[in-house]
Amino acid sequence: MSTYSAPLQPSRTTATARNIDPAVAAAVRSGLTASHKSLPAWLFYDAEGSRLFERITLLPEYYLTRTERAIFTAEADRIIAAAFTAWHQATGDGHITSDGAGKLRLLELGAGTATKTGILLAAAVRAQGETSYLPIDVSASAIAEACDSLAQTLPQVNIQPEIANYVTDVLGIPPHNGPTLALYIGSSVGNFAHAEAVAILRNLRAQLQAGDTLLLGTDLVKDTAALEAAYCDADGVTEAFNLNMLRRLHRELGASFDLSTFRHVASFNREASRIEMHLKSTRNQYVRIPALNLSVPFQVGETIHTENSYKFTRESIAGLLREGGFSVTQTFTDPQNYFAVTLSTVAASS
Ligand code: AVI
Repeated sequence: MSTYSAPLQPSRTTATARNIDPAVAAAVRSGLTASHKSLPAWLFYDAEGSRLFERITLLPEYYLTRTERAIFTAEADRIIAAAFTAWHQATGDGHITSDGAGKLRLLELGAGTATKTGILLAAAVRAQGETSYLPIDVSASAIAEACDSLAQTLPQVNIQPEIANYVTDVLGIPPHNGPTLALYIGSSVGNFAHAEAVAILRNLRAQLQAGDTLLLGTDLVKDTAALEAAYCDADGVTEAFNLNMLRRLHRELGASFDLSTFRHVASFNREASRIEMHLKSTRNQYVRIPALNLSVPFQVGETIHTENSYKFTRESIAGLLREGGFSVTQTFTDPQNYFAVTLSTVAASS
């Protein structure tokens, strides 16, 4: 029989029923009472978690963001030209008329602050003088930041933001008389299991027309050391990002997690082709969650699974896109083959 330490640090937060987000409460209850404990990755992104993620994107070990940005910088004009070609081939139409019909617009799932998107928007502006941009994100503050910074740097972009959850909401994309290039970049698709990823692509596909295109950014399978270093950096920023989830539960639900008794673990599961992040309890203990009237037992070595980050091959990207209703037209990558940016078109038969 294991012995458990006494409940740790009574919370000083008084989480009242009024300020508890029911989605957070439901996710925490179901995740921490399951036989294999887990918490959904979306819980990372409170204000502090979003700040920590921005820091992750600048880390030397986290090659994903800078590699994708380098691909955009090198290939943006070709990507925009290829999106026009796909439209022309599907519709026979390739002319921009004086009323603006035929102009390419860009749409982005999970746009966030849209820092890399500016490179593609600038290329669209070079090609046709102006463009429209439809960022879709749950975070109104991230969208507001994106709008502010684009208004300064690219006044030729007409921004039409939509506050929506692209995972759970049916997208309401306004009709357009011309090609749409949808962006789903930053390896965001990698944080979803295959079936969820397919559903997201199908939800998008349902809003697009023949000749429209999707640009998908995905991290590629590579040697284990490089992958694991990207999720376990020397400065401990990813560790802080992972542990912040427990801090959030302390703040929002009064949970009595003692952070010094949980370790950040990130390892590559090659069979499942994913980095798995966990928080491992270093002792037997109970964690009290007053707002849920719950006491959660942990055995020494037991983990909370907090994130999967899937890594792809060209074949698995093509397969995912095919199931989502798209077919690959062109793949752009970096000299090390670390990251792929795949352009695909709405598949004829879907
Ligand atoms: C947001 N997403 C693509 C990141 C990733 O690489 O899976 C989240 C992340 N988790 C730890 N580091 C970064």
